[in-house]
Amino acid sequence: MGSNTQVYGLRKYVFFTCSIWITFCLSLWQMNCFQIRKFHLPSPKQILPKNSSLTISASEMGISDEEWESLQKALDWPGPDLQITLDLSTSPVHSTFSTVEPKKSYKVGDNISVIITARDHNKNLKRYGGDFFKAKLFNSQLKASVYGEVVDHRNGTYSAVLLLPWEGQAQVFVRLEHSSEVVQILKKYRESSFPRSHYKGYFGGAGPNKTRISEVVECNIKWGEGSWSKSNCCCEYKDIKTGTVWQCERPKKLPCDKLVYHSKGGLENPLNTFEKQFFAKTLTNVRITGDTQIINILPNTAGNGTRERCRSGLKTPVPAGFYLKDVWKSFVCNTQQFDSAQMLKCLQNKIVYMIGDSTTRQWFEFFESKVPGLKRMNLQTRSYGPLMAVELKNNVIIHWRPHGVPLRFSVMPITNLHYISNVIDNIAGGPHVVVVFTIFAHLVFHPLTFYVHEVAKIRQSVVALLSRAPQTTIVIKSGNTAGYKDIFQSDWYTLQENIVMKEMFRDIDGVIYFDIWQMTSCHYLTENIHPGPVVIANAISVFLSYVCPV
Ligand SMILES: *[C@@H]1O[C@H](CO)[C@@H](O)[C@H](O)[C@H]1NC(C)=O
Ligand SMILES: *[C@@H]1O[C@H](CO)[C@@H](O)[C@H](O)[C@H]1NC(C)=O
Ligand SMILES: *[C@@H]1O[C@H](CO)[C@@H](O)[C@H](O)[C@H]1NC(C)=O
Ligand SMILES: *[C@@H]1O[C@H](CO)[C@@H](O)[C@H](O)[C@H]1NC(C)=O
Ligand SMILES: *[C@@H]1O[C@H](CO)[C@@H](O)[C@H](O)[C@H]1NC(C)=O
Repeated sequence: MGSNTQVYGLRKYVFFTCSIWITFCLSLWQMNCFQIRKFHLPSPKQILPKNSSLTISASEMGISDEEWESLQKALDWPGPDLQITLDLSTSPVHSTFSTVEPKKSYKVGDNISVIITARDHNKNLKRYGGDFFKAKLFNSQLKASVYGEVVDHRNGTYSAVLLLPWEGQAQVFVRLEHSSEVVQILKKYRESSFPRSHYKGYFGGAGPNKTRISEVVECNIKWGEGSWSKSNCCCEYKDIKTGTVWQCERPKKLPCDKLVYHSKGGLENPLNTFEKQFFAKTLTNVRITGDTQIINILPNTAGNGTRERCRSGLKTPVPAGFYLKDVWKSFVCNTQQFDSAQMLKCLQNKIVYMIGDSTTRQWFEFFESKVPGLKRMNLQTRSYGPLMAVELKNNVIIHWRPHGVPLRFSVMPITNLHYISNVIDNIAGGPHVVVVFTIFAHLVFHPLTFYVHEVAKIRQSVVALLSRAPQTTIVIKSGNTAGYKDIFQSDWYTLQENIVMKEMFRDIDGVIYFDIWQMTSCHYLTENIHPGPVVIANAISVFLSYVCPV
């Protein structure tokens, strides 16, 4: 750590938060004194080509070689074994699915098996796997649906087993989200030094003649040899506990310790003209044709089995549940529906810490709108947090805050961005404490190895919290499916992050892994990074079923 290394997140910046300064900054902002438009970024000087693949060791990620090896196995995704061409890539028009030995009628609890056959644009069968398909069973009238996992046979065929969980009719729905050729491109750029997402650092402070100076520079994570850097490099901000290094171009007039605000910057597309063709709308997230005939499902008199009390350590089966009349019926455990009064009762004497991104902020907002008497304290932080809501009679406190950088939020004090592991380290825990965190959407712009590093730190903190306060309820909210299907954000990135999170917490007793992926993937609403209210309501019911199990 040289003189250019500053540790942030410390009290050092407390004086910045004084309201005079904020007012001053905001007025500067309004006057456009931050010169966003006028600001010219120096041209990058990089030793390695921008798209070169980063090599990160297991120890840099904070895990053992063995763990990295087993993670890589879990993440393994087949791909083309030859130079890709558009003609030979998977065509959603020519790929089809069929039902194995279809029957006239089925019973609730039966399965149907579906085979997906991938073909290229010349109608030839594909010989290798790696296509990203999604499958579900649905009934629009019943507002019923269930998720099906697609198994890749690595020879151009795929299969999905779909459970028939409701009585009535159902139809199979299969879509090709990305061809294996696209997944290969996603994978390449994910692990490259190419900065698909840019960020800004806002410096402010007194200049030599005591007037206020402000400067905006570019910032990004420091991760691996040849990762993002700038000619006037750099102010480094190393978080002592997590070891994460955030770096900003050195401002011209101000020293490194004058970094005050953070925001997202532009997105930069690494795709060349050839690669861009594979992402065409007509090839992305397209329903494929197949046996779409109506399936008749008759009642089943056999018992449906009693469900377990919701607790940590339960496995998430596929399917993890299904929707019927827009209500999620879980197969994991005995989930309940909560009306407003029951929500309040469940949250009585609880302090809930939600950490993550805008998808957990949706949960905060949901509670705010549903729990009687729960009121948001005005912390003057707008929607970027931290946020806090309280209900005094029943002693309920709900906190929300975003995770640390990288984060694509609008301008906010960087001091308010705390790493999840650091937040957890500062929670005493106990039977009245509930911690729920999520991390996925803002990490998809960066190498998966960096995600592994972040999860390794979170895991350390979770293990420590459970050791000092075993009765703490800790919920990991997985990443959900989203509407983005491009080189910047894709569900394929999220899927892989979810695998990392699940694998890395597999052996940690006392943690609840809440798989929301299946709930958003099979719902009839158009996928959105911010799931619709009905999905949020169902997710909250599952969450509260863990907090207040019966
Ligand atoms: C990086 O880009 C250069 C020039 O466009 C290209 O020749 C090279 O193959 C690319 N490398 C990777 C790993 O894609
Ligand atoms: C359906 O598949 C599930 C999961 O593979 C299995 O547990 C269940 O027994 C199957 N049901 C029938 C009726 O075969
Ligand atoms: C692909 O692999 C599956 C599973 O091994 C096998 O059942 C199927 O016959 C194979 N299909 C082709 C076209 O080779
Ligand atoms: C103060 O210094 C800045 C930067 O050196 C300069 O642009 C500005 O004109 C100075 N203001 C006064 C009042 O001298
Ligand atoms: C199981 O079946 C009983 C009666 O057959 C029904 O009341 C109950 O709601 C069912 N449970 C689930 C989870 O479907």
